[in-house]
This record gives sequence, C-alpha cells and structure tokens, in this order.
Amino acid sequence: MGNRPIKIAIDGPAASGKSTTARELARRLGYLYIDSGAMYRAVTLKALKQGIPTTDAAEMARLAQTCRIEFRPDSRKTVVLLDGEDVSEAIRSPEVNGHINPVAANPRVREILVKKQQELGRQGGVVMDGRDIGTVVFPDAELKIYMEASAEERARRRWRELRSKGVEIDFQQVYREILTRDKSDCTRDHGPLRKAPDAIMLDTTHLTIPEQVEKIYRLAIRKIREQDP
Ligand code: DC
Repeated sequence: MGNRPIKIAIDGPAASGKSTTARELARRLGYLYIDSGAMYRAVTLKALKQGIPTTDAAEMARLAQTCRIEFRPDSRKTVVLLDGEDVSEAIRSPEVNGHINPVAANPRVREILVKKQQELGRQGGVVMDGRDIGTVVFPDAELKIYMEASAEERARRRWRELRSKGVEIDFQQVYREILTRDKSDCTRDHGPLRKAPDAIMLDTTHLTIPEQVEKIYRLAIRKIREQDP
C-alpha cells in the first residue's frame, strides 16, 4: 500500500463480534491479527492443565511470564499455540470461561501480557482486539474502534455459535454468563473495559459481520492514506 502501516485497536464486550470482524479486517488489509483475549485464555488453560488455582496470583504471574504464546494466521481462523501446542479450540472451553475472571483481574498477569502484546504490535500493521487495547496497550493507535451490541443480541450470537458446534445450552444461561462477564470486565481495577476518549463507537446490534468489516475498513483506509509514506 506504500503508506506507513498503522495500529488498529478494537475493544468491546464479550460476543460483540470483535474477533470475527478484526480477523477479516486484518485479512483485507494484509495486517497481522492479534486476539489478546486468547492470551488470557491460554494462561488460564495452562493453569487448569497444571492444577494451579487461577486465584493464586503469584503462580499465575509466573505462568504468564514463562509461557510461550504464538499466533499462526490461517485463511479462516487464527491458530493459537501455547508452548508449541495448538490450543485454538481448548481455550474456548466452558472450563476456561469459568476460571478466567481472576486471571484477567490479576495486575501482574496484565502487566506481563500487555508487554507481550506491545511487542507483537510494535512495528504496526496490526489489528488487535480486546478490552484495553485503545486505553492501555496502544493508547497511540491511529484507529480505535469501540464495538457495542445489546446484551440480548450478544447472548443470541454466542448461543447460536455454541449450538452450531453441537453444544446444547439454555439461552438464559448464556445470557446470564454474558451479564456476569460484562460486570467483571467493567469493574476490575486494572485494564477495565472502557471506551478510549478518541475511539469511534460502533453499535453492531443491527449490523451483519460484512457490514461491520466494511465500515471499519473504510475508516482504516482513510487513516492509512493520511500517514506519511
Ligand atoms: O475476548 P474474550 O472473550 O476471548 O476474552 C477472554 C477474557 O479475557 C475476558 O474475560 C476478558 C479478558 N480480556 C482482558 O481482560 N483484556 C483483554 N485485552 C482481552 C481479554
């Protein structure tokens, strides 16, 4: 494209469609996609595998520091490797979901993972999604998007996704889990979910994924053209 590659931060609550949108946006721009939530998930999975309670703050910090998390882009999904092992599916398990909150609230873990994220995006040409990307990880990102959607709509999306994978689950349970996660994401002391003042708000309740991608793609192209060559 000739212009300087930029950093794009996409934040928002659980199941707001961030990952699918961010991945497709990165593909269209030829950028690297980093799913920062996958890193919190990978550390949680490692603790579960080793029988370490995720509430053990010091042990969790040690795991975050010593584990190796890599992303391998693929045309349809991003493969996540934890110490060389493909954990792309395992990090999405209900067990990981059930133990992740203390990991995301652990200030040492956040500090370590934020450093890893900054290192991965140092050269620009990156789309990163999460909760604190525009506020903490890349406050200097050239483009910041905050994606919202009603809790009902997000629960519906998550419920459909689980059903399509053959998981039989009650809609009300998915809805309650979304509300619990929103509460813990918004109220933690370190790296809470918050819209950066300079982020563009995008309500996706009534948008399809291609529509979301198109809107952000246009904003990104405009930003990229504004950069010095
Ligand atoms: O986006 P996700 O559902 O895969 O995120 C998993 C968990 O990690 C979620 O509880 C919030 C947390 N998270 C975070 O605290 N900071 C980020 N930048 C990304 C995710």
